This record gives sequence, structure tokens and C-alpha cells, in this order.
Amino acid sequence: MKKISRRHVIVSLASTATFLCPAVLNAATTADLTSWADIPTDSPVGLSRILRLNSGPASIDISALKPGEVTVIARPNDSDDYAGTGQTQFVAAMRKDNDYLIVELTCPHKGKAIGLTGDPKVPFACTKRGRYHSSEFDSNGLGVAGKSSGDPMIVPEHKLSSSNGKVVLELA
Ligand code: FES
Repeated sequence: MKKISRRHVIVSLASTATFLCPAVLNAATTADLTSWADIPTDSPVGLSRILRLNSGPASIDISALKPGEVTVIARPNDSDDYAGTGQTQFVAAMRKDNDYLIVELTCPHKGKAIGLTGDPKVPFACTKRGRYHSSEFDSNGLGVAGKSSGDPMIVPEHKLSSSNGKVVLELA
């Protein structure tokens, strides 16, 4: 895994598309962070739906996402990187106006799950709350509060391609 950089925030679209999966889901719900005090920290919250896939490479058609919408993909992964999220890699794909933010919902602080807040300015927050955690991230995937202030979210190995109006996210 690698952390996000400016280079990753705006992902350019290539000219070819491959296999398309029709299941595109808008996952974000409006969440009240004050109710997150004692929630489980091994899976994201603030989700209405999640796209669960098998491990290994995946291609997901994210064309249907509207600006501000988020879809979340989950895949099993036995890497130690995912010990804090039940050996599951959660990836969020958020449509911005003219680009997409692709980030892992694993906190760069101590690896707990990151949830969706439903707040367009601060759409991501760590499920581990309290004085020594409580990271929150803006729509560029940068930490703006809590222990990850100033730190970027983790970016999965991925590629975006666009063809004939279809936008496909390929996860390695
Ligand atoms: S693990 Fe997320 S803020 Fe500590």
C-alpha cells in the first residue's frame, strides 16, 4: 500500500475499458459522528450498501456515480495491513466533479476502518474515536482532524479507464 499524494488525487482517464461489472452502488449515508463513540472499528460505518467481491484483481463499472456519490468495494485480503479491518480491504471510489478519488478505508494512523460521514466537505472519518484517534479526512483524502491531521489516506493500487462513456475502476 502507498499513501496518497497530489499526483493521486486527480486520476487521469485512459482510453480503453475492459470487463464491466454492472453493480454500482451509492454507499454513503448521512451519519452523526457523535454516535460513533463506541462503534466497532473493523468495518466502515455510514454505508447503505457495499460491493463485496472475491480476492484478486477486479474491474468495477463506476460510470453511474454522480458527483459527490461514493461506492465501496470490499475484498478479502490476508495481508497484515488489513488485520484491523477483519482481513478485508475496503476501497471507496468517490465521484468528484470531473475526477474520482480512490482511497482505502483503512486509517493511516493505526489501521482501523474509516467510515463515511455523508458530509461532502469531510466525507471520511476513522471509526476509532477519542482523544488519541478521531482522524477525519477531506474530499481530497487529506487528514484535517485527529491523529491523521496533515496525513493522506492510503491509495490502493488501481487504474481508471474511460471509453464510450463508461468509467472502469481496475483494482490490482
Ligand atoms: S486508527 Fe484511525 S485515528 Fe487512530
